Amino acid sequence: MENILKAEHVSREFLIGDGSIVHALTDINLEVNEGELVCLRGRSGSGKTTLINILGALDRQNSGNVIFCGEDIGALSDIARDKLRREKLAFVFQSVALISTMTALENVEFSLRLAGHPISGRTKRAKECLTRVGLGKRMDHRPGELSGGEQQRVAIARAVASKPKIIFADEPTAALDSTTGTAVLALFRELVHDDGITVVMTTHDEAMMQLADVVYSLEDGEIVNITRNDIPL
Ligand SMILES: Nc1ncnc2c1ncn2[C@@H]1O[C@H](COP(=O)(O)OP(=O)(O)O)[C@@H](O)[C@H]1O
Ligand SMILES: [Mg+2]
Repeated sequence: MENILKAEHVSREFLIGDGSIVHALTDINLEVNEGELVCLRGRSGSGKTTLINILGALDRQNSGNVIFCGEDIGALSDIARDKLRREKLAFVFQSVALISTMTALENVEFSLRLAGHPISGRTKRAKECLTRVGLGKRMDHRPGELSGGEQQRVAIARAVASKPKIIFADEPTAALDSTTGTAVLALFRELVHDDGITVVMTTHDEAMMQLADVVYSLEDGEIVNITRNDIPL
């Protein structure tokens, strides 16, 4: 299986107001293979968000390397990193960041436009992705007319639409009730299996960890355990 993302000895410190230093991540080493669902677990404050933001080129480490498709992305300029994020990566956050004045369809079309997808195929691709996440009949609804779970599905449709190499999801189910959260997880699992998508997500949800191919456990900014699950197809 091809390795598409790698962290090598990644550390991140934050200087806080009183002049002291918080070691958010210390010597993190991990690998993400194409077509896998990788989960970062750990208590609040263990470093999950800091790590996923560095892996997704939203933040920079203080030391160590992040290698994406063979390229050291820490060495890239901010502009090159913006382009990389736009064209190759996608993000799903805990609080669904949809544009409230746009319908579900328009939200997905708009993100395709930002990703540089040619205008001609945008509507078709957006409809295809919304259908894929089970929202074929809700495409003309605005976020306010959709449930939390449905909004998160729109965010997932938006993330998959531009065919990113990796989708990063930071606690995508944390704001959902457990039934809805499990359904959203099952959808991620399905996308990974059926469509060959690669997903890196954070969670403290046990159900989610069982659906992951690999689970990295974080404690105080360090990886303390790696578990590989054998997920039946
Ligand atoms: N911008 C920041 N400035 C200062 N400290 C931060 C910042 N971001 C995160 N931290 C600290 O780094 C540690 C890890 O935080 P975070 O990655 O958000 O953990 P998690 O997502 O697992 O809850 C915490 O101690 C947090 O307070
Ligand atoms: Mg977090």
